[in-house]
Amino acid sequence: MISAAASERIEQLLTQMTLEEKAGQLSQSPNMAEVKESDVESGRVGSVICAASAFAGNERQARVRAGQINHLQKIAIEKSRLGIPLIFARDVIHGHRTVAPIPLGQASSFSPSHVQKAAEIAAFEAAADGIRWVFTPMLDISRDPRWGRMAESYGEDPFLTAELAEATVHGLQGDDPAKPENVVACAKHFAGYGAVEAGRDYNAGEITRYTFRNIYLPPFHRAVKAGLGSIMSAFLEIGGVPATANRWLLRELLKEDWGFQGPVIADWDAVGELICHGIAEGAADAARIGLSAGVDIDMATGAYVEHVPTLVREGKLSESVVDDAVRRVLRLKFMAGLFDRPYADAELADRVMFLPASQNAVRELAERSIVLLKNEGLLPLRGHKKLGIFGPLAHAKAELFGTWTLDGVAEDVVTVAEALKKALPEGVEAVESPNVDESLSLSRFCDAVVVVVGEATGRSGENNDVVDIGLPPGQLEFLKGFKALKVPVVAVVLGGRALDLSWLQENVEAIVMAWHPGVMGGLAIADILTGKVNPSGKLPVTLPRSVGQVPLYYNRKATGRPLNPNERGMTRYVDSLDSPLYPFGYGLSYSRFEYSGLRIEGRTVSATVKNVGDSAGEEVVQLYVRDEVASLSRPVRELKGFERVSLAPGEASTVKFELGDDQLGYYGPSETWVVEPGWFTVWIGGDSEATLSGRFQVS
Ligand code: NOJ
Repeated sequence: MISAAASERIEQLLTQMTLEEKAGQLSQSPNMAEVKESDVESGRVGSVICAASAFAGNERQARVRAGQINHLQKIAIEKSRLGIPLIFARDVIHGHRTVAPIPLGQASSFSPSHVQKAAEIAAFEAAADGIRWVFTPMLDISRDPRWGRMAESYGEDPFLTAELAEATVHGLQGDDPAKPENVVACAKHFAGYGAVEAGRDYNAGEITRYTFRNIYLPPFHRAVKAGLGSIMSAFLEIGGVPATANRWLLRELLKEDWGFQGPVIADWDAVGELICHGIAEGAADAARIGLSAGVDIDMATGAYVEHVPTLVREGKLSESVVDDAVRRVLRLKFMAGLFDRPYADAELADRVMFLPASQNAVRELAERSIVLLKNEGLLPLRGHKKLGIFGPLAHAKAELFGTWTLDGVAEDVVTVAEALKKALPEGVEAVESPNVDESLSLSRFCDAVVVVVGEATGRSGENNDVVDIGLPPGQLEFLKGFKALKVPVVAVVLGGRALDLSWLQENVEAIVMAWHPGVMGGLAIADILTGKVNPSGKLPVTLPRSVGQVPLYYNRKATGRPLNPNERGMTRYVDSLDSPLYPFGYGLSYSRFEYSGLRIEGRTVSATVKNVGDSAGEEVVQLYVRDEVASLSRPVRELKGFERVSLAPGEASTVKFELGDDQLGYYGPSETWVVEPGWFTVWIGGDSEATLSGRFQVS
């Protein structure tokens, strides 16, 4: 990861550092504006998070300027005793100035190459502002849409999340994070954070080791294998142990078994929160517990810088533990190239933000992230004379960004209404109104309406959990108004979670799930509605029929009394269908794709997919696997491969997947990876309910 010379320099520095300076390296200061120059000079600050509060994801943040960063950096380099550079971090979650779709939307693209490209752009822009470390990717498996942070995740599936984890790490770090256009990544929240009970942020969770190993950990492991530079511990506690105090997780598993060399950083004030959890008596105790468990950097609490030297002097903390943590921090700084190139180019930023090529790349990702859920022939929009463009989000700008947008500029956004008006063929009259009852009365003269509904930015993301996963209050009523007037409706839904769209599914003609699609989202939506772009996004999360079904995910267990709606005594609800409203992997196109000819040769599985529609389109071909009999029961099916194929009308393509031990095994009874002999079923198709299947035996 870093050169031998760098390692040598680190060892040398360690011999020169005082305990106070060591503790300083392990401390991350919040809010650049409040960092004291005297603290930088005395070495009490190792890194800075460029966020003003614990709620950076929900509040606009002041832009960070390279000049500001250089000012503090100059003090660290020239005035601190050892001249160790600072590193500046920020939550660049789905783009910096050029805002890409939220991660949940990105996952809908099932396109690692597009996701990687968006990460490259985010890195390039952030680095130009002097930010060399970003708190991305978020790799929490999200099975509960009440949890607002589903928006930040790649959804419910470990395989898809792992593929995108690798793509994001490569996109952010490039082949060398030290290059000026790259940054160091930080995977979070380690681990199991998506399992917070009742979908309530910061809550406790319960995860068995089996589920932890097989569902929650694989994306992190993949990111580590991809060269990930740092990792953030989660807020949650499992079984009485907050992640920030989990020695087994951080030391034994991550650092020893996986060989992770980078630092673990606590989430914001998570070291201090060990007191609230009720496992630390005060800040000193919290520092001791966190550092001993393997949390190398204390974000925002200040407990390490205040207490670590005394803890060591009193014999409560071994200096070798401190040294190991400092080594990791210095490695991160070497990895980011800061010892060679500590300053940012103050002229660069204005030349690289929101470049046309970046806009295009993010637009291509947005196009692939939009999921067509229902279409009763209304889309693409054709032959209409008067089209209504209504709804609370039709003219939204910043709302298209979604959560964690610190540097996006609302003026960059073309709204759905503006974009659609431009994209409509000549002769189509667009009718608009910001007003609910006027929209309804105007719609009587329209031959169809596009209604943009869904969640505003602040309804998902950190600390934004809901007990009602339906559309926000009033929107359904509004949609019912059009229904009463018998006007055909295209519902464009924005959102940061798996919403309950049951009423829409029964009552509107077309549903387009656009998530929070980012700065180019309005244009991408318009191109999809008008058919310039054929939709190809697929759901990275199951859409339930109601919140009562939650958690509902496709890779569930068969149970002893498997789901069978027509038989009594089997697992079921009395008052609801058991099936999802839309399954994982689902998404329509203006074309139709037919699957045939599944073949299994050894461990190669293939099938032919044919575009039987009359427009060119892209299809995400998905491979699912079930281990039929195993020592521990295995999920009813699991995604183990996918490929995006582009097909002209009438064109067919044979897609092949290799099933290696990595796809066929699991963490078994002794918590080690095993491929157990026996029969496996495979399915290939366009979603997780694919029916084309075959079986093969592993001996
Ligand atoms: C808290 C969030 O959980 C985390 O995702 C984020 O990176 C930090 N705050 C820093 O803002």
